[in-house]
Amino acid sequence: MSTVNDKGTALVTGASSGIGARYAERLAERGYNLLLVARDEQRLQRLSQQLQSRFAVTAEVMPADLTDARAIERVAQRLRQDQQISLLVNNAGVALSGSLAESDRHSVAALLQLNVLALTLLSSAAAVNFSIAGRGGIINLGSVVALLPERFNAVYAASKAYVLSLTQSLQAEVGDRGVRVQAVLPGMTRTEIWQRSGVTLDASFDAMIMSPDDMVDAALRGFDEGELVTIPSLPDSADWHNLLQARMQLAPNLSHRQPAARYS
Ligand SMILES: NC(=O)c1ccc[n+]([C@@H]2O[C@H](COP(=O)([O-])OP(=O)(O)OC[C@H]3O[C@@H](n4cnc5c(N)ncnc54)[C@H](OP(=O)(O)O)[C@@H]3O)[C@@H](O)[C@H]2O)c1
Repeated sequence: MSTVNDKGTALVTGASSGIGARYAERLAERGYNLLLVARDEQRLQRLSQQLQSRFAVTAEVMPADLTDARAIERVAQRLRQDQQISLLVNNAGVALSGSLAESDRHSVAALLQLNVLALTLLSSAAAVNFSIAGRGGIINLGSVVALLPERFNAVYAASKAYVLSLTQSLQAEVGDRGVRVQAVLPGMTRTEIWQRSGVTLDASFDAMIMSPDDMVDAALRGFDEGELVTIPSLPDSADWHNLLQARMQLAPNLSHRQPAARYS
């Protein structure tokens, strides 16, 4: 079990590799105890030992396959009941390559279970616990493909658009109850996700690929600054705010009793 500390405990899903492992390291550096979730128990144990020897924190391992409803519920229950948990990093995710028409239905279902359903149920469990406590943070890993669905696998891009939308709604629900919410939208990041989804990245992509260290450091800086949406590679945040403003300009006209004149 975690020992009590000032920061509390961060539950990081997908902590066994890539971005999740970097979050675990950076959060340990900041003094969070850790609850590390993924399927590969050995990798989680190795990470836990490393982090506990380097930092004055505890790092508990919680192996779970988050495509399995019972495993999701086990983690959600921990999030509802453990008052030490103060941060949820919903990072576990898989990608697919190829067209929607050719996608294998089992892979599509597994992606939706993990990227959408698990993330939703864990966010919901954390939101309950954190709202009651009046503190806490929820970081959801989306992707820039949420903004460029034409450029990537349809199911993956749609799952990440869902993450962005859910996070924006969650902020509206719990933002004024002391709960901090953030959607992180990384561009291409050098992790195992590419190999796992059957994509080979040749040298022509080098200028577009960020290291997971840089990605997580930028994302945590955005979190510290209270950003709802962090896009680590975007040079000018005004570009994102212009998009939001354009969206809000539509708002007064999105629901009327009569169709627009051009359809009559
Ligand atoms: N890398 C990129 O270019 C990029 C860009 C944008 C967004 N992202 C997002 O960043 C997040 C992290 O991905 P990554 O790039 O770090 O990839 P990664 O290195 O492949 O890490 C994925 C993590 O998710 C875990 N995971 C996979 N299936 C799982 C399951 N069924 N149950 C529980 N855990 C599972 C994996 O651990 P186990 O195999 O041990 O379960 C691993 O720890 C994902 O949400 C991804 O969509 C990545």
